[in-house]
Amino acid sequence: MESIILIGFMGSGKSSVGKELSKLLNINLVEVDQLIADVAGKSIPEIFEEEGEAGFREREFEVLKENLLSNQIIATGGGILTYPKSAELINRQSNVFFLKGDINVLIERISRDKTNQRPLANQKKESEIISLYKIREQSYHDAANYVIDVTHKSITQIAQEIL
Ligand code: S3P
Repeated sequence: MESIILIGFMGSGKSSVGKELSKLLNINLVEVDQLIADVAGKSIPEIFEEEGEAGFREREFEVLKENLLSNQIIATGGGILTYPKSAELINRQSNVFFLKGDINVLIERISRDKTNQRPLANQKKESEIISLYKIREQSYHDAANYVIDVTHKSITQIAQEIL
């Protein structure tokens, strides 16, 4: 099976759904953000701080390229498609699922999530996050083979729908 790639904005549940799918299908989960941090030996905010967004995107691309093997679940970060080289790789895949949620619900989740530090959302005004979503929304649709509405669904429901 070609890998299942989960894309979507911050707060759409890519990692949680990835974990559930990995359990249900008994296949490996690649959490791109986690792997970037492991390889770099520093946190995502530290990478942004020290290397800028450009440095982070290049690291994201390297991790994606090296893990795009078959039979895996790949939970991406919400901005992966902003980097053309990463977008090109994802656009060539055929099991790409866009977890699409109402932006107000996603903002609510992002602000509640204290464990995940997101340099592109923390300390941003709601209007700025909405603008970022609007800029990115089309690219999620362009890359996706399937669009799953995640707004009012549990992680289990979303995983079942993907299966
Ligand atoms: C980002 C989303 C984050 C992480 C980084 C940048 C983005 O991942 O990759 O902070 O540009 O939207 P999540 O979508 O898992 O929050």
